[in-house]
Amino acid sequence: MARVLSQLTEPFSSGGNPYLEWHHAPLRQELEATDLEVIGEIPRDFSGVYFRNGPNVRHSPIGMYHYFDGDGMIHAVSIKDGKASYRNRWVRTDGLADEDAAGQALYPGLAADSRRELPHLSGSDGFLKDSSNTDVVFFNGQLVSTFYQCGDGYLLDPETLETSGRLDLDQLGIRSLSAHSMVDERTGELIFFDYAAKPPYMTYGVLNADGSLRHFTPIDLPGARLPHTLAITQQYTILMDLPLFWDPELLRKDIHKVTYYPDMPSRFGVIGRYDGGETIRWFECDPCYIYHIVNAWEEGDEIVMEGCKTNTPEPKGTLPGAFGNLLAWMKIDPTYHRWRFNLRTGQAREEPVFDVASEFPMINARYYGQKSDISYHVSFADADVQLFDGLVRFDMAKGSVQQYKFGPGRYGSEAPFAPRDNSSGEDDGYVVTLVNDTEAGRGEFQIYDARDIEQGPLARVIMPQRIPGGFHSCWAPGDLLAESVERWR
Ligand SMILES: [Fe+2]
Repeated sequence: MARVLSQLTEPFSSGGNPYLEWHHAPLRQELEATDLEVIGEIPRDFSGVYFRNGPNVRHSPIGMYHYFDGDGMIHAVSIKDGKASYRNRWVRTDGLADEDAAGQALYPGLAADSRRELPHLSGSDGFLKDSSNTDVVFFNGQLVSTFYQCGDGYLLDPETLETSGRLDLDQLGIRSLSAHSMVDERTGELIFFDYAAKPPYMTYGVLNADGSLRHFTPIDLPGARLPHTLAITQQYTILMDLPLFWDPELLRKDIHKVTYYPDMPSRFGVIGRYDGGETIRWFECDPCYIYHIVNAWEEGDEIVMEGCKTNTPEPKGTLPGAFGNLLAWMKIDPTYHRWRFNLRTGQAREEPVFDVASEFPMINARYYGQKSDISYHVSFADADVQLFDGLVRFDMAKGSVQQYKFGPGRYGSEAPFAPRDNSSGEDDGYVVTLVNDTEAGRGEFQIYDARDIEQGPLARVIMPQRIPGGFHSCWAPGDLLAESVERWR
């Protein structure tokens, strides 16, 4: 039985934008529902919550809407004792509060104009709203949602999904958080970076498990850059200077035009987790862009990093129609790639690993920073808009690839690993994802055997509403969540 938590009644217009229609049409309500119907059986040997962030715009856009603009919404599916419950809530950002008060959208957004401003932190002016729609991590007993172009970290209660505030960046003495920070489950630390149009072009730091600041340092770059993520090993962090960034000439005129420079190398900076920016060591590799890293670890003198390499970051042309340019930029061709950085010789090597297009890689989160073999990705449907049509499981130890397609009209979400209780081994558990059935107009939470995704879901939990496409997710195991409830009670 679903209970409505809030319902929007103001009229909404998609303006014909394909990222606001069909699978991507935003929800107009927040719901909670318990004891959901299950097809199959939910295994009783795991518990926890799946959290997924994504854009879900509230007010009709005032400019050309970009998929990255929508207001962050968290979907949560909680699993315990073989039962499932669901809740969805918007991230109540400061910018959204201003729009709600005005009863309309106030920000033109990323594609509305070439004057692409960085978000105005915690405020209501500027072109781009910090909508906190990109990633969600479980840190210090709370959820932290982040924004792809650097912004605040919004804090949400993991049980109610209510927004409780923001990380106090001023008090911590840090500038902003990029799309992706990493939580090291061994230490509980949050490792983060940001970038900016003016020096320092990058900053890097570490929060302790209790949320206090452990480390913060500027990173010297030759100009403004737009890296999306970072990687960690147990002792090091890898930061990125990739040849996709704002055209520097236009940037001087305050115009933010993202441009790919295929004649420039990709540079990867290896820095000790708590070391100053002046100690960073840069390694040059082939030009590319990287949205997401699988994992990184230390191996003798080398740092090994695996990730999804986007080979053509800038579209070769546009697609037809008024939204063609926007659609073309969202089509990417990532493949599984490995880089090696030798700390003794200063040399870098790289190699393609699997020629299977996939993205949004997830691993057993306990292995971040340590050697891992197995990762779970999504595959893209051949369509004008971004649609995840299946799962891909890579196993380095066996050199094997498994694939599973959700079926016609069914599109999934990023799929994290959920460990079995007292799990032993990297893939001892489940892979979980939210799938939207566009024909039935409803969502499903699907649970797969992490060792065998090809047999299809072990259980399909019927959601009380459809689940639009989204971005990033995490799995918070039940034992970690129980600790957080104790901490904040
Ligand atoms: Fe991302």
